[in-house]
Amino acid sequence: MEIAIRPVEVADAAALHGIQLQPEVLPYIMPLPSRRLSQVEEYLQRLGPDMHYFVAEVDGRTVGYAGLSRLQGRAAHAGHLFLAVDAAWHGQGIGTALLRKLLDLADNWLMLERVDLSVLAANPRAQRLYKRLGFEVEGRRRGSVVSGGVFVDEILMARLRPGGQIEGPRGG
Ligand SMILES: CC(C)(COP(=O)(O)OP(=O)(O)OC[C@H]1O[C@@H](n2cnc3c(N)ncnc32)[C@H](O)[C@@H]1OP(=O)(O)O)[C@@H](O)C(=O)NCCC(=O)NCCS
Repeated sequence: MEIAIRPVEVADAAALHGIQLQPEVLPYIMPLPSRRLSQVEEYLQRLGPDMHYFVAEVDGRTVGYAGLSRLQGRAAHAGHLFLAVDAAWHGQGIGTALLRKLLDLADNWLMLERVDLSVLAANPRAQRLYKRLGFEVEGRRRGSVVSGGVFVDEILMARLRPGGQIEGPRGG
């Protein structure tokens, strides 16, 4: 199976919207169940230069997406990422391929020193993926997000650039 990763286009909106509303995906990401296709289209049309957004394709079909948002000012050495994969394609390396693409961009093109993310405590599959690619847990935001009728914790994770200027997990 060949996984192609390419920059997102506005024409991907319907595929992304479909993935976001899947019952296996929606509880773990931030959109509400009422999210409209037009909102996704408008969001993609307005992506700024510091939002780096890719999709994964298999046989010409969009099966996942991932984004890295570079922060500004005194945090311009850092970025925040997210990703989601079509439930029919979970467990086939799509998420790993998307995350590797974002980390290559962060390490070798944007030269970011720090990439972070938040993941729900009840999402061990995503946490395993992030740990496998070098992310470490930095903290926990208790009850910070609603998911399916309960307040759930977010786990904060970060990865420092290998061989970069920040030494150790806390940076001294
Ligand atoms: C979390 C998520 C992005 C992972 O994507 P994915 O494509 O399933 O990830 P991968 O396939 O690369 O890795 C998942 C597992 O499949 C395994 N795997 C990877 N490639 C494989 C292959 N070719 N064959 C069999 N298994 C494989 C991995 O080892 C991994 O195993 P583990 O969960 O036991 O550690 C996906 O489950 C998802 O979209 N979830 C809902 C939304 C979400 O949680 N987003 C993240 C919010 S922080």
